Amino acid sequence: MKTASYLRVIGFAILAFFLLEFTIDSGDQWAIVKHPIIWAVLGMLVLFALALEIVASALQRILFGGLNPEAKERYLTAEQIREDNRFGWFKRKYEDMLGAKPMAKEQEIVLDHNYDGIRELDNTLPPWWVYMFYATIIFAVVYLVRYEIFDGTNQTEEFEIEVAQAKIEVEEFKKNNKDLIDFNTVEMLADASDINAGKGIFVANCVACHKDSGGGGIGPNLTDDHWILGGGIKNIFNTISEGGRAGKGMIAWKTDLKPSEMAQVSSYVMTLHGTNPVDAKEPEGDVWVDENAPVDNVEVKVIDSTKIELKITDDPVIDDLQAGGK
Ligand code: HEC
Repeated sequence: MKTASYLRVIGFAILAFFLLEFTIDSGDQWAIVKHPIIWAVLGMLVLFALALEIVASALQRILFGGLNPEAKERYLTAEQIREDNRFGWFKRKYEDMLGAKPMAKEQEIVLDHNYDGIRELDNTLPPWWVYMFYATIIFAVVYLVRYEIFDGTNQTEEFEIEVAQAKIEVEEFKKNNKDLIDFNTVEMLADASDINAGKGIFVANCVACHKDSGGGGIGPNLTDDHWILGGGIKNIFNTISEGGRAGKGMIAWKTDLKPSEMAQVSSYVMTLHGTNPVDAKEPEGDVWVDENAPVDNVEVKVIDSTKIELKITDDPVIDDLQAGGK
């Protein structure tokens, strides 16, 4: 078999592949991945094409054998000419694009000066180069009109559009992957459904030590400003996930609760803050101040012209506790 036959078979296989791909509905998957049977179909088609090629070349040989010597000669020359002209169009185009004079015709373009035997050819610019140059001119005009005259997006705007799009995608991703939360990314959940779910988890797992109200029993009070292991959604999440200090009784819940559930129960614990249940345990740990929290109240008292006193209060609970005789 000749090379041309192999090329035809390969071409046929590629064609068949894409035809099958386009005719078979396979959603956004490749048909060949979704229906492995297509491999078999494709294999059969290729075998079939191979067989056809073999039969054709055998037939050709037999017919050639039956010719008289003169006809054989004619057939061979015709074949030779066909062979030589193959891809003729591409070859001619390629040479046109180079635009070079063949060596034999250089006499036509040689300039008539001669420096110590060095002469110069007056070649024209190669057409491929000229066309590319025209293309850059057209590009420049289109670019100028689009971005300088009409209001095409500049790089800053493109950047902002992409960032906005990415934000939307991140939100979408977070919504679909609630369990990817960890200490660094957890945020206070505001949805009532999440808080309710958190309450459910709290009632099921935590009330034995922290009481229904969060006022504390075996475990510390979760409603006051004092935190042993740090307040705020991140620290609370971390305590619930990793547990308290060794031997204190607060286990790491990450084996029992999913990250999304820990975020819900952390958010619920946050809502208990400041509820002042009647049977609350004494505060333990330090007052925890969220450095990132918005400041509610800033009081500036001028003592004299060189000193000022600044009192920042963020939370009414401290005042309540102090007022309550502490
Ligand atoms: C077996 C009793 C027990 C259970 C059940 C328990 N805790 Fe605790 N919890 C503790 C103890 C004890 C501490 C104090 C840990 C320490 O001092 O290191 C604590 C501490 C905490 C703290 C940190 C308090 C602070 O002041 O820093 C949070 C928040 C907390 N628990 C939430 C929960 C949540 C939510 C659950 C349910 C998922 C839960 N706990 C279940 C005993 C418990």
